[in-house]
Amino acid sequence: MNQDELKRLVGQAAADYVQQNVASGAVIGVGTGSTANCFIDALAAIKDRYRGAVSSSEASTARLRAHGIAVLDLNEVDNLPVYVDGADEIDAQGHMIKGGGGALTREKIVASIAREFVCVVDASKLVPVLGAFPLPVEVIPMAQAAVTRALAAQGGAPALRRTADGKPYLTDNGNVILDWSGLQIEDPVALETRVNQIPGVVTVGLFAQRGADICLMGTPQGVQRATYRA
Ligand code: A5P
Repeated sequence: MNQDELKRLVGQAAADYVQQNVASGAVIGVGTGSTANCFIDALAAIKDRYRGAVSSSEASTARLRAHGIAVLDLNEVDNLPVYVDGADEIDAQGHMIKGGGGALTREKIVASIAREFVCVVDASKLVPVLGAFPLPVEVIPMAQAAVTRALAAQGGAPALRRTADGKPYLTDNGNVILDWSGLQIEDPVALETRVNQIPGVVTVGLFAQRGADICLMGTPQGVQRATYRA
């Protein structure tokens, strides 16, 4: 199976998980990215069971609506039984790097109110230590240079994310992203706390304080499930 087929496999496994574990009438939290897209496509088949979805990006909102799935504002929802999203890297404790698609802030907000975070990945995302994938940090534009210096002082090399035509990439929130390469993140919880305290940082793409509860991982042998928190 190639990587796309593995993503489709876990997208379907996540929809099956939701159908088996989430009561009808609930609102489903939906992530962003190519694997989350596979989940959205599979969710379409059971959409009538649920009230709708809360989305973590404009891109996922458009895909959900194209499938006829209602998208609710997070402010209208007081609980989410589950949030399903991909990751750029995940370690054996369920800590993740996210934000390769630029949606890290809304992803972290939606994940923070979900009872359960179900991470959907293909096996290439499992790493012993986080950091080979550059860590995305969303920053208020006026703080770009100051945050770049503050990150570089801790090691590694933060670089402004740019679009294909060389302009600064802007998130759905109108902010820039620094991709911080050259890290070996031995203590993801501590680094998440430290980076969040730098003035101008909106969100760091480390999801460690609130990591995944469950991971559905697509492997050539089928979907493997890891549970990190009961
Ligand atoms: C989006 O901002 C990210 O957090 C994605 O969840 C992450 O980049 C994984 O994306 P893929 O499923 O496309 O690899």
